[in-house]
Amino acid sequence: MTIDKNFLQALAGQSTNRVPFWYMRQAGRYLPEYMEKRKSAGSFLELCYSPDFAVEVTLQPLRRFHMDAAILFSDILVVPHALGQHLEFRQGEGPVLTPVDSAEKINRLGMDKFHQHLSPVYETVNRLGQAIPDTTALIGFAGAPWTVATYMVQGHGSPDQAAARSMAFQRQDVFQTLIDLLVSATSEYLIKQIEHGAEVIQLFDTWAGNLPEDQFRKWAIEPTRKIILAIRKKYPHIPVIGFPRGAGCRYPEYINATGVSAVSIDTTMPLEWVRDHIQPLCPVQGNLDPLLLVAGGDRLEKRVRQILDCLSGGPFIFNLGHGIVPETPPENVALVSEIIREYKK
Ligand code: CP3
Repeated sequence: MTIDKNFLQALAGQSTNRVPFWYMRQAGRYLPEYMEKRKSAGSFLELCYSPDFAVEVTLQPLRRFHMDAAILFSDILVVPHALGQHLEFRQGEGPVLTPVDSAEKINRLGMDKFHQHLSPVYETVNRLGQAIPDTTALIGFAGAPWTVATYMVQGHGSPDQAAARSMAFQRQDVFQTLIDLLVSATSEYLIKQIEHGAEVIQLFDTWAGNLPEDQFRKWAIEPTRKIILAIRKKYPHIPVIGFPRGAGCRYPEYINATGVSAVSIDTTMPLEWVRDHIQPLCPVQGNLDPLLLVAGGDRLEKRVRQILDCLSGGPFIFNLGHGIVPETPPENVALVSEIIREYKK
């Protein structure tokens, strides 16, 4: 089978004429046209659950920068929301959930309205398949169970994920029940996205790096392995990109044990180490610092070329090492996109 999308070729380990690129959180508040849509939708969750709006904001960055992939516009926290947990996004505060911190509260969550709740997301994926250019790939996504659980247990974001880490130590059985629920819900959610047209899946495990080694295996690797197994059973050819942010020297173990097709590497990963120890295992995507993208200037250009020079010899997709932040000047994103597009391997 010939693959005609640059991004899918790189994920299949094939060489590409040009380095494919996209940016984590490429849709969002750094774009004035996003702010306008969010205002007319009323709230962030309304954006996520209204296919008209969600399709539009997914396409906005593509119109400006022509990335090789579009990522479904949604959020990792729609999964706990669909399981029955209360969720709000407060201006300037981020997500706020009613904490699920006991066996009783976990048992009150369930799958009975799950797919019905998420049907607008499936509709968005479906429409995006038609709306994006022929050479652009469509990425579906979910949060990995560990990262989603950190928000569910604590009720909001936190720098150290203390509530979930403590629960995992002190009430391991209860925490395991929550993770198991997330493994099955996330597997079904991603399979539905594929049925509706997602060509690639990315699993965001933003807080994986904060786990000590045995806990990393138990809560980051094991649930991810199970989700990938469930996807592969039905869709063996759909690539799954893992993003175990902060995994450091544990990236190779993560790749071997989970069976991911590719990894997104975070900003801290040394390029030559990635080239020598990760790229031989699977295609790699990353890892420009989103704050350098804000800063701009010569240092930005230099770093973009450095990343390209070091990693474009193997299967590589240019990306950031974490998501775009709201302060990012769109001109800097345009500049980086231009450098990548014109770069000769
Ligand atoms: O990449 C994309 O363009 C697709 C959409 C996407 C969003 N969130 C939209 C969003 C994706 C892939 C995510 C993933 C996500 N969401 C993660 C994992 C990746 C990462 O960045 O670490 C996490 C941890 C979340 C949870 C979340 N959502 C938080 C903590 C916040 C508040 C902080 C923030 O950045 O605002 C959100 C809100 C959110 N998700 C926004 C967007 C565009 C901003 C909402 C707004 O418009 O006010």
